[in-house]
Amino acid sequence: MVCLGNICRSPLAEGILRSKVNSNEVEVRSAGTGGWHVGEQPDPRSIAVAKKNGLDITDQRGRQFKVSDFDAFDHIFVMDASNKSDVLAMAPSEEAKEKVQMILEELFPEEHVDVPDPYYGGDRGFDQVYDMLEKACTKIAARL
Ligand code: 4NP
Repeated sequence: MVCLGNICRSPLAEGILRSKVNSNEVEVRSAGTGGWHVGEQPDPRSIAVAKKNGLDITDQRGRQFKVSDFDAFDHIFVMDASNKSDVLAMAPSEEAKEKVQMILEELFPEEHVDVPDPYYGGDRGFDQVYDMLEKACTKIAARL
């Protein structure tokens, strides 16, 4: 699960998907394309909306997406088109590029819908992001 800062959207996506899969079979991690928040906890607003929905994401720490993640993971879900172009620019091969998918393509195939970045908005933005990611992760978990 990849976003820009790895403190708002992708930690939620990680927590939600992880809650829906068998941890013995599926490893779920998140990362940011940027490195500003490496080592930090998720944004308090993401922690709060997760908690409201019964998930604890406080153990997560920010990490930056790295080229070896293309080998380490079978699927790379990005939150928006900007994340997608940043990640694709790092891809070492065509096979690696094929792993990259906008997460909301799960819900709106071919429509290129972004998960909006809630960082500069209010708390409601986090509720909306949570709902989108919950629906998308339900589909991903069923497919995995
Ligand atoms: P995220 O949101 O990509 O959903 O984690 C952001 C968090 C921090 C920043 C940008 C986006 N930032 O510029 O620090």
